[in-house]
Amino acid sequence: MEEREYKDWLSQYTDAEECLNAFQNQKQFFRVNTIKTSLEKFYKTSKLQSKVTTYYGAAFELEEDIQIGKTWEYFLGLIYPQSLPSILVSLVLNPHPNDTVLDVAAAPGSKFSHMAMLMNNEGVLVGNDFKKDKISALYATINRMNILNCIVTIRDGKALGWKERFTKVLLDAPCTALGSGQSAWQRWNKENSDNISRIQKKMLFSAYDALKPGGELVYSTCTYAKEENEDVVNNLLANVPNAKLLDIYLDIPHERGIYLKKCCRIYPQHLQSEGFFIAKIKKGE
Ligand SMILES: C[S@@+](CC[C@H](N)C(=O)[O-])C[C@H]1O[C@@H](n2cnc3c(N)ncnc32)[C@H](O)[C@@H]1O
Repeated sequence: MEEREYKDWLSQYTDAEECLNAFQNQKQFFRVNTIKTSLEKFYKTSKLQSKVTTYYGAAFELEEDIQIGKTWEYFLGLIYPQSLPSILVSLVLNPHPNDTVLDVAAAPGSKFSHMAMLMNNEGVLVGNDFKKDKISALYATINRMNILNCIVTIRDGKALGWKERFTKVLLDAPCTALGSGQSAWQRWNKENSDNISRIQKKMLFSAYDALKPGGELVYSTCTYAKEENEDVVNNLLANVPNAKLLDIYLDIPHERGIYLKKCCRIYPQHLQSEGFFIAKIKKGE
């Protein structure tokens, strides 16, 4: 696709110039792993030049130009490099220590390890992924971050085979990832989005089946196409009478969903970080 064509397409969602330019001065964020350290101790001992974000006490902005994945803090599992919108996804699901949580597409484990931290390493956290090579990355995260409340499974997210087992479910779906890289649009076309949308719809039905009545599910992607976002959520809402879309309250710059106004769209220009779509759904009792 030509750049001009992409910008025209993107303009239906947001300011295309602003959105593309935002990739040029993206900030680096990381999350402190309070399973291994406390925020107070991290403040006292870390040599990283960073400042805490105003949005969340465990999210920090890196203020020096270094490879964060080569620092002691990273190797020791004291931090997890993670974009700010990605950090917000687990906060929206808000898992507690007494929850039984399923992460349908968990690898490499950024949101998964954050959820373990929010659960104080208690309760039950099941991390699933279908790609065997990615599972090893998930195990590495589990070890590095010292996650103890977890079980790893390898199931096809389109046919998980779990019925009403979890109080909370996260489906951070495979997607065209337009929000995560400056050049992702060069590989994008509508046919890609339509194909992946069909997979996402099946995954969302299967994830919803795994949810207990009264439970809550978060659906997220790091892309903009409504085919992979609102249309996927709407397909569930239209076919499952007891699925209810919940409002998301985020005290950050963002836009509302295209026609599902309770959903949240974060573009790269909002936080100088990744673009994300987040929807929250409740299963009726
Ligand atoms: C957006 S990434 C997930 C990122 C992860 N949630 C995180 O925050 O680190 C999407 C994941 O979906 C997985 N995936 C793709 N198809 C799948 C399927 N049919 N069932 C389960 N997982 C699948 C991919 O292997 C990939 O790890």
